[in-house]
Amino acid sequence: MTGPKVVLVGPMGVGKSTVGAQLAERLGCAFRDTDEDIVAAQGRAIADIFVDEGEARFRALEKAAVAAALAEHDGVLSLGGGAILDADTRALLAGHAVVYLTMDVEEAVRRTGLNVARPLLAVNPRKQWRELMEARRHLYTEVARVVVATDGRTPDEVTEEVLDAL
Ligand code: S3P
Repeated sequence: MTGPKVVLVGPMGVGKSTVGAQLAERLGCAFRDTDEDIVAAQGRAIADIFVDEGEARFRALEKAAVAAALAEHDGVLSLGGGAILDADTRALLAGHAVVYLTMDVEEAVRRTGLNVARPLLAVNPRKQWRELMEARRHLYTEVARVVVATDGRTPDEVTEEVLDAL
């Protein structure tokens, strides 16, 4: 199959971009991040797209960005945390080397805090994390070939574990 060598999924703040860039370096290929593709194409921050045009519009942009990246990119690809909410996107991921990076809720709150650049967590981070993960965990698991826990681990350690698991 053509397409990315590795696709990283998992919640925001889990380290997809950091680990993805490290993986790409180790594998000698390029790194691409669909959030960055959307920001570049729209010329504005994701938080602004959410506020001005709503989540549904962002999800439509995200769906198109993921489909394009899966078709075009042959390096390491990182998806936004909510990309797997879309059933067509999940179907497109079948057959790819999808790695799900996990973290528990306390680690998530510690890492993302009250970061208002992440619009889904701006009000009550702990409660919202719990709800997000309850709604999404099974979807990440459904698309994943490999699951790697990141709690208490450095990005270097996570990268090594992903390489071992692939
Ligand atoms: C989102 C995750 C973010 C970004 C947007 C929505 C989500 O991406 O796409 O804020 O729904 O989980 P990261 O996972 O790269 O932070």
